Amino acid sequence: MAQSADPIDVTAAVSDSFGDQPAALLEILHGVQDALGYVPEAVLPVIAKRLNIARAEVHGVLSFYHDFRTAPPPPVVVKLCRAEACQAMGVERLASEVGAKLSGDDHVVVEPVYCLGNCALAPAALVNGRLVGRLTVERLLSAVQEAST
Ligand code: FES
Repeated sequence: MAQSADPIDVTAAVSDSFGDQPAALLEILHGVQDALGYVPEAVLPVIAKRLNIARAEVHGVLSFYHDFRTAPPPPVVVKLCRAEACQAMGVERLASEVGAKLSGDDHVVVEPVYCLGNCALAPAALVNGRLVGRLTVERLLSAVQEAST
């Protein structure tokens, strides 16, 4: 993530790499989020102009998909799998216990995802993009601690 880069410049560069067809909207939004960590409101007109679509259309897609952020993320992002294999291995109880331990910590956010392709090592999570399997409360908190340093 290059959070100190000018979001408008980053968006222009990302847009250049995906072209100007409206079908590129999702790829551009993902590219901006990958580069900045989120999609700032200020870049929506840049994307709309580039694709020759309404700003409202860009906003609609951005707000429809929960994976997009419109504000900078906290330092640690945990994407905890809540799909079937992880449910079968107790992720709901794990989520509840971890949520209680991290309650009030604004440096960490825990978000649901639905299958990380790591079902054999369920329950699983991504901690700042690093895959962690066979989670226990202790393993997940340790991964969060590692990601915080
Ligand atoms: S169901 Fe959780 S990794 Fe597949």
